[in-house]
Amino acid sequence: MNEPAFPPLLIDHLRKAVDVAVLTGAGVSAESGVPTFRDAQTGLWNRYRPEDLATPQAFRRDPKLVWEWYAWRRELVLGVSPNPAHTALAEMERQLERRGRRFTLITQNVDNLHGKAGSSNIIELHGNIQRTRCFDEGTLVESWPDTGETPPRCPACGGWLRPDVVWFGEMLPQQALEAAWEAARVCQVFFSVGTSGLVEPAASLPVAALQAGAIVVEVNPAETPLTPHAHFSLQGPAGQILPQLVQAVWE
Ligand code: APR
Repeated sequence: MNEPAFPPLLIDHLRKAVDVAVLTGAGVSAESGVPTFRDAQTGLWNRYRPEDLATPQAFRRDPKLVWEWYAWRRELVLGVSPNPAHTALAEMERQLERRGRRFTLITQNVDNLHGKAGSSNIIELHGNIQRTRCFDEGTLVESWPDTGETPPRCPACGGWLRPDVVWFGEMLPQQALEAAWEAARVCQVFFSVGTSGLVEPAASLPVAALQAGAIVVEVNPAETPLTPHAHFSLQGPAGQILPQLVQAVWE
């Protein structure tokens, strides 16, 4: 396969950057076999309705259905491995840290694959599907007695347990969100990788970075609302583009 020639200006910006931030979405895990939400044919939201599965109202209405849908996804992501896009982002972090620079990975994904790939400075905006918390009290719960009920019950209060993910209509974890805004504001280069850019507030992070004067780079095989505003649009699968970019810039 031929190496794509990256614009020399982009390589230059990355070599000089003191602070790099990356926002990822479901597309970064697509090559691991995790379905995205909005891709034609394969996207989860083509098969399921978000209002039936990913809202607090849906959980109140049918907690068993919602718990089981997340249990299915939890098993799915437990069974897959990080792909070269995840690995390249972990390598980007190592390369920057080695040079005393800062790297922040902001993800909308709940699949834990960035962590598995070895990234360390990760902000999880939408939670993590491997964690469970009490629906009533919000407290994280590590284990619970098996009463045969679905969903299981909180060992402290007896309320239902739910996945520690952010549903539509819910607030994002405040600390994570603040850290993400800060990273977008201070970076010199901001990447938006594998996200359709349709869900707020994550969709506004690249805009904040643009307004603060950062170079914005999009990595996505498809066009998104961000594409016309990005300084560089690298069109293709993240698992191909990112490893080649990291190699071109730092190795
Ligand atoms: N490499 C890079 N991008 C890809 C790849 C790939 N191999 N395959 C698909 N994509 C792109 C698609 O073109 C699309 O723009 O990934 C994007 C996936 O978009 P969505 O399915 O909308 O996922 P995301 O942007 O992460 O959704 C945001 O919506 O349902 C909620 O909470 C959920 O975090 C999620 C949020």
